Amino acid sequence: MVQEMLFSEVQIKARIGELARLISQDYAEKDLLLVVLLKGAFVFAADLIRVLQIPVQIEFMTVSSYRGGESSGELRIVQDLAIEVKGRHLLLVEDIVDTGLTLSRVIELLASRQPLSLAICSLLSKPSRRLTAVEVDYLGFTIGDLFVVGYGLDCDQQYRQLPYLTELRLAD
Ligand code: IMP
Repeated sequence: MVQEMLFSEVQIKARIGELARLISQDYAEKDLLLVVLLKGAFVFAADLIRVLQIPVQIEFMTVSSYRGGESSGELRIVQDLAIEVKGRHLLLVEDIVDTGLTLSRVIELLASRQPLSLAICSLLSKPSRRLTAVEVDYLGFTIGDLFVVGYGLDCDQQYRQLPYLTELRLAD
């Protein structure tokens, strides 16, 4: 396996600061509930909330639709939210939007619970891989068709602990 650095800790931190400023402005007068999708988004969310300038509440949801490198497209809710979201302003925090299938299904599910608003924040997006349209309101970085790990993202549950984002590819 070869790892190629994609975004350093410094670059990630700077971008998260910018996203946090936008989110803090947009939700200044609102009661915001962050819904963090586990496991991939836990590092991103942990850094994001610490630079937000507004109070927030945080809830977690564990979903999986990805097995051994290819998206199955089937959403499995491993752990659902423990609270009601009806009438709340929700910001869904995701690690990466690839085909968009996972997020579009989570959005459908949460929208059916009648939140007051529902916006999306994702650290990464691979638009060239999209199979379904998903609008990301707060996006960290756009990348090409690469497989990335680190900063919470995994390959078969490995590499989440790396403090930076790196491309993972098989040696030629
Ligand atoms: P989608 O349903 O195809 O958009 O896949 C989204 C999910 O697949 C993400 O939440 C990740 O868990 C996983 N995923 C997609 N691309 C990558 C990648 O490059 N590295 C690690 N996980 C990825």
